[in-house]
Formats: sequence, C-alpha cells, structure tokens
Amino acid sequence: MSLNYQDRIPNNVDLGSNRTLQRALEHWQPSFLNWWQELGPKDFQVADVYLRTATSVDAKGWATYGFVRMPEYRWGIFLADRNPERKIGFGDSYGQEVWQQIPGEYRATLRRLIVTQGDTEPASVEQQRMLGHTAPSLYDLRNLFQVNVEEGRHLWAMVYLLHAYFGRDGREEAEELLERHSGDADKPRILGTFNEPIRDWLSFFMFTYFTDRDGKFQLKSLAESSFDPLARTCSFMLTEEAHHMFVGDTGISRVIKRTLEVMKELGNDDPQAIRAAGAIDLPTVQRYLNFWFSSSLDLFGSESSSNAASYFANGLKGRPDEARYEDHVAADQMYTLEVPGDAGTKTEQIPMRAAMNDVTRGAYVRDCEMGVTRWNRLIEKAGHSFRLALPSTRFRRNIGVWAGVPTDPAGQPITQQEFNARIAGWLPSEGDQAYILSLMHGVHEQGKMAAWIAPPDRGINSNPVDYEYVKLH
Ligand SMILES: [Fe+2]
Ligand SMILES: [Fe+2]
Repeated sequence: MSLNYQDRIPNNVDLGSNRTLQRALEHWQPSFLNWWQELGPKDFQVADVYLRTATSVDAKGWATYGFVRMPEYRWGIFLADRNPERKIGFGDSYGQEVWQQIPGEYRATLRRLIVTQGDTEPASVEQQRMLGHTAPSLYDLRNLFQVNVEEGRHLWAMVYLLHAYFGRDGREEAEELLERHSGDADKPRILGTFNEPIRDWLSFFMFTYFTDRDGKFQLKSLAESSFDPLARTCSFMLTEEAHHMFVGDTGISRVIKRTLEVMKELGNDDPQAIRAAGAIDLPTVQRYLNFWFSSSLDLFGSESSSNAASYFANGLKGRPDEARYEDHVAADQMYTLEVPGDAGTKTEQIPMRAAMNDVTRGAYVRDCEMGVTRWNRLIEKAGHSFRLALPSTRFRRNIGVWAGVPTDPAGQPITQQEFNARIAGWLPSEGDQAYILSLMHGVHEQGKMAAWIAPPDRGINSNPVDYEYVKLH
C-alpha cells in the first residue's frame, strides 16, 4: 500500500479505515510532540534541516529530501509490504502460517519485546539532545538530526504495534515510553547503555557505530518473527538504521584521517603532541571504542538464556538472517560456550536454542570487525604500526557468564587487583574526557569543519560537503 501523507499521521497501514485506532494514536501524538520539544534536540527546533523522509518502503529510492523544521517532520507508520506467502521461518512451528494477530499465550512476551525495543528509540534522542551545540560542521549537525528524527519514527513504529494489537495494556505501555527517561534516577530507560550520557561527538560516533548496530541485529532478529506486523515493521526500520551506522563508521574514519594528517605534519605519534595540535590520538580512540563496544555487548543478554530458547522455540524472535542456517528448528543441536574456569577459561556444551543471544552477538561482533579493518587500513597506509582492535567479548561485561570476571582487553583473566589498577588505562580517563570535551565547540558556519575531524568524502544526496545542510535562524 502506498504511503499516505494526507492523514494527520502518515501511514501505509490504511489507518483511516480503523477510526478507533486512528483516534487513539492521534491522542498519543501531542504527547509525543511535547516529549520531542522537551527532550529532543535542544535549541534547534526552528532551524530548517535538510532531512530525508520516506516515500516508499522498499530498500531502493525510498527517500525524498527537503528542508524541514524538526517538529514538523512527518513521523509516520510504515510497514514493509506484506508477503502473503510468508511462513514461520524457525522454531517448533516452522513452516506454518505467520500470525496476523497475536496468539493469546504469547501476548505478554511479545509486548515485553516490543516495549524493550521501543524504549531504546527515544532514549537515544534524549542521550544526544545537547550535541547540536557542539557539531563539528553543518553536515554533521544535519546527520545528527536525521538520526534523531528517525529514532523518533522508530518509537512511532513500536507505539503503533502496541496500540493496534495490545489494547489497553498497549496504550499504557505507549504512555510509559514517554515517561521513562535516559539517565533518570527514578525512571531510567530499560537497558543500561541507553542511560549512558553522550556528551561529545567521539562518543556519538562510537554510539552510532556500536550501539545502533546492536539495534540492527535486534531488528534483524525481530524481522524474523512469526508475528507478521512486527516482522514487517522491523524490516522497514532496518533501511533507516543503515544510515545511523554510516554516520558512526564514517565519523570514526574521519577522526582517524585527521589524526593521521596531524601525525604526518608533526612527524611523530606522541599523544601529547597530537593533542597540542588539536587532534585525537589513536590510543584515546581505542579507549572510547573499548567503552562503547563492551557496553553494547551486554545488550544481547546472557550467553545461556532460557528466555532466548523459548523466544526461538515459539517463533517470537529468531536469528539474524535465519535463512542462512540449515536447521531452522535447532531442537537437538548443541553449542560450545566459553565460560570462566580454574585455568582461566573452559568450555561448556549448552542447547543451541539457549545460546541464541550468543549466536546473535557473534554475528554482531563480526559486523563490528569490518569497520575496524577499514580504519586500520587507513593507519597502515599512512605507515604507522598502531592498530585498533575490538576488545574480547569477555572484557568488562556486566551481563552473562563473564559478568564481573576481571580480564584484560584481550580477554585473559587477571586478578581483581590487577584489573582495578589497569582499567583506567583501558577506558576513557577523566583526562581523556576533559580533553575531548575541550575540543567540542560548535562549528555552525557554512563550509567550515572542526580541526579534530576531516571532512567527509562526499555530501548528502549528491550535494557538496559545504552545502548549507542546516539553516539556522
Ligand atoms: Fe532506531
Ligand atoms: Fe538508530
């Protein structure tokens, strides 16, 4: 169905034919807009921002670009087209019809899964709300706001499901999605990483690279769901999510590129000299990477999980790219898990279904590696021996079998004493944070770029890099 922008709430779900649902969502809309004004990007609500808006739900050519004031962005409800042939792709009901309505016995579980996903969307907008003031260029400012409005739309996507399929409970959950806030002492967001403050742009790029990528894998798992409306919603969200990770990937590349230029000018790689020249030394990039990667690993949950096993058995949440696996039932397969042991590590066999969080985390780690390889190629080409690396999945974990087990970034178990003594050197120190914050001055002049980051290779939608992507008033 084509996208309808005539209605108050743009949609491709024929909202006009369900007056009760339409009215319920129109009732939620002002609460959303209030939340956006209060906790969305601070002080840029009247700026004209060069944003893309969805025009169709397929992967190709879905966007139109134009100047929009963020509160007037056309947030809407867009689901990928329904495939009438689609069958359940995994678990005990493999091969049966997908569900257009929710089976009663899975109602509470699906609601929880949708609320947990939905909660991350506004959380990240809240985390990033001060960053507009310190954007390194108008190009970056625009990208930040594009990410923010799309996270707002992802919230709409989850709220639609709650309203359309969960009755009164769903409406209450939708209200609460606007009541919890990132970092709030009384009503925090559900997942840890989404309560971490993002005060600087190096953290923003790490977040969009590592944490938005967690989102990608969660959405991929939910896009496999037997509950067809959820699968279709997540499929479309994934096309938007790709840009968020692009922002992180290219942002980190540009930081490194600038650092390498400065290293060349200076003729050395001394972090103090690089900082004196206003760039970000590579060991500091590594410490920020260590922080955001290890924090994002926890979002996948425990390595061995009875919840994950029942989500899979019942067809609620699958593996990313389930079609790639041979056995979609996975009833009697086993999975080898590395767990802490007397000699550091030992292995354990657990049922494959219980290991689904770790299977998904493994796919995520391989995806994260690709950027690291690209970044290292830049460093190698410039003739330096320094290499960035993802820390081990055992490092600094708070959830799962390695939670609280002291290891070094390579994953070697060490004593608690050694860990305590060395952790400050593995994560951004107070000094690192103060230095990064000292670089954060907004560059809002057309054609200018902050000195700690290289310009991007190209602009947005074939426009030049120095295009006036945000018109400030
Ligand atoms: Fe999102
Ligand atoms: Fe995102």
